[in-house]
Amino acid sequence: MYEALGLDAQRTILIAIMLALGVAGIAALFVGLFARTKIRLPYSAEVGFVALLVGLLIYGDATSTSTYRAYEALLPREGEVGVADEAPAGQFDKNVRVLAFQWGFLFFDGDKALRNVVQVPPGARVLFRIGASDVIHGFNVPAASITAELEPGETRYVWLRAPDRPGKYLIQCLNYCGLGHAQMKAWLVVGEPAEEDHDGAEEA
Ligand code: CUA
Repeated sequence: MYEALGLDAQRTILIAIMLALGVAGIAALFVGLFARTKIRLPYSAEVGFVALLVGLLIYGDATSTSTYRAYEALLPREGEVGVADEAPAGQFDKNVRVLAFQWGFLFFDGDKALRNVVQVPPGARVLFRIGASDVIHGFNVPAASITAELEPGETRYVWLRAPDRPGKYLIQCLNYCGLGHAQMKAWLVVGEPAEEDHDGAEEA
């Protein structure tokens, strides 16, 4: 998602061109005001200059639209994500029980219990059944734009569609839950299965 906000090479070049044009324009203004001999530009130069500006405008609009489209494609579609107190209807590719504790997440995936990491295939529909063992925690997956509040003794269901792009996606606690709150992170690993348990939070 940072691509949507960052300045990639194209945009940096565009900004450099606009800055150069701005500086050239101000310089031309001063030359026009203070130069002893008046310089006359041919009309073709004016037409060319306006065409350059229009071209930049169209190019800028096209790149900004494509950036937004790419961002939009990452957003979850209707029904793909949700939070509820009851198990949602429908089939899921993966069902994972989660325990939030001071300070971390335990993922029960089949016969494995993994600390701070859960493995899912790209694009899989995943259902998390989450409980908190001690105090109020949160379960936030920024890549799926979803957050749930977890109260001890209660069960919350969170479902999402895993990103299509393999990689490590952050899961974090969003409710202040004591000294270790800031370190209460886990990874949603999309792609290849991990060889062993590992504490993802330390790699952050
Ligand atoms: Cu758990 Cu903050």
